[in-house]
Amino acid sequence: MLGTNTATHWAGRAPLPTTPTGARPSQPYLLPELGYDYGALEPHISGRIMELHHRRHHAGHVKSLNLALTQLDAARANRSFLRLAALERTLAFNLSGHVMHSLFWRNLSPQGGGMPGGALAAAIDRDLGSFGAFQRQFNATGASVTGSGWAALVWEPLGRRLLVIQIYDHQSNLVQGSVPLMVADAWEHAYYLQYHDRRADFFAALWRLWDWTDICARFEAAQRPRSISPEVED
Ligand SMILES: [Fe+2]
Repeated sequence: MLGTNTATHWAGRAPLPTTPTGARPSQPYLLPELGYDYGALEPHISGRIMELHHRRHHAGHVKSLNLALTQLDAARANRSFLRLAALERTLAFNLSGHVMHSLFWRNLSPQGGGMPGGALAAAIDRDLGSFGAFQRQFNATGASVTGSGWAALVWEPLGRRLLVIQIYDHQSNLVQGSVPLMVADAWEHAYYLQYHDRRADFFAALWRLWDWTDICARFEAAQRPRSISPEVED
């Protein structure tokens, strides 16, 4: 389910003028709107969790990544790179957090659940054994995250196959070049208010919410070059 307000589009860029010197200032990333109300995913995910997750956690990543970009602009302008490693780590963490959360919201739907069809279903059978085997691996991937991280179904374009991977924080343990299709947040903030220490129950509930229309569209888009955006063309 895609949001329609382009003013708050996830990848939307606020129009900024060029500076008198012609340099282009950093353009801020924007927090996307959800395509549904905070309470729309109940009873599987509470409205309070969704509100905190979106307004506080995701918004925090957007704010921090824009600040990091501004600080990187200043570092280049001042030729002062003492803090560069820390700034680039901060950028990777928060920009990846922004991408992952933007994907997660769009992967879910109040009308979700069931199973995929078409080419994605065939690819799951071919690369992951069966839909049931995929579900078990995906659930176990989420359950076995130590610390904070994600479970993700990705398309690996070199071998042209689906993989399930575990991501540490938002940006580590990635398979380079892979395209995320379906991601599940295993950070405690995603479930603890409702599920407490029962992360496996949260992952089980997500199967009632996955929007296979969105995920199948991402799979089809991933077959094309340069298709890593969380946006999927209609
Ligand atoms: Fe999160």
